[in-house]
This record gives sequence, structure tokens and C-alpha cells, in this order.
Amino acid sequence: MEKPHQITKIRLLFVCLGNICRSPAAETVFAKLASHSKLGVEVDSAGISSWHKGEKADRRMRDAAQRRGYQITSISRPVVKSDFSQFDLIVAMDNENFRDLMSIASTDEERNKIVRMADFFVKYRYDHIPDPYYGDADDFNLVIDLLEDASQGLIAHLKKNFSL
Ligand code: 4NP
Repeated sequence: MEKPHQITKIRLLFVCLGNICRSPAAETVFAKLASHSKLGVEVDSAGISSWHKGEKADRRMRDAAQRRGYQITSISRPVVKSDFSQFDLIVAMDNENFRDLMSIASTDEERNKIVRMADFFVKYRYDHIPDPYYGDADDFNLVIDLLEDASQGLIAHLKKNFSL
């Protein structure tokens, strides 16, 4: 049977609150794992807020990622309405991000693009990616662990549902 979406490259936008911790890490971890599995993707990330617009990702997040072999280079920007046409899938880091994205979307087609990263966990049983901003090094390392696991599940989902 034909897969539901026939496209050559899937475009994914990862979204958190500030776009300086979780979603820049998600974009980076996912892109690396997707390239290892030969999946054609374009990735970006954005924040619900514009509090950190123009800033590099949080130093603690960049350092934690670097120690695991990931280089985060993104610059924070807020979600904009045109993201809903520019991207095929919009991936929320937590349930509040999910609700906020749902309130920005204005059509069923736009709402259908929004998913939660936690929907794709393979071995973890969290219902969101916890915000590490007020946490310590362990919290930043946990974000990487969770993103690696959910990225594998997301890659499997894309291979099953998109013809690439
Ligand atoms: P993020 O983390 O949503 O994973 O980027 C946060 C970054 C900044 C703030 C909160 C969460 N803040 O309150 O400035």
C-alpha cells in the first residue's frame, strides 16, 4: 500500500519555550541520527517566546551536547505563522509548547502537523522533555538521553509514514 505522504525530504521544526536549550539540542541530535540512517530531512528549531531571540544556545546545553559529540550552532528565534507552511512536522518538547502551538495554528492541516517529542520514546516513559534551564548538569545530560531515544522513534515513524 502507498505511504500517505510522498515527499523527498521531510522538513521538521523542533519547538520549546526559549529555543536555547531543548529544541536546539533536538534539532542537532535528530539531524545527526537521521543522517546516520540515510533519512532525507531539513531541520530547524524555534521558541514559543522571543525572550532569547538572536542568542546562541545556552552554554550549558552546548557543552553537554559537545561532550556527547553534537555541535549546536543554532541561533534562537520565535515561532512564526509561516512555519506552519514551511514545515511538514512541528515537534513540541513539552505539553505546554504543544498547547501553545495548537493555539497559533489556524487550520486542521496546520494542527495535524503538531506532535510531541515524547510521543516517540522507545525506552523512556516520560511524557515530555523536561526543561533543564533551572537545573544542573544532570538535567542537561538527561535532555540528550531523551532526545537520542525519541529521535530514534521519530526516525522509525517517518520511515513508516513518509515515502522518502
Ligand atoms: P528551553 O529552556 O525552552 O528548553 O530553551 C528555557 C530557556 C529559557 C527560559 C526557560 C526555559 N527562560 O525562562 O528564559
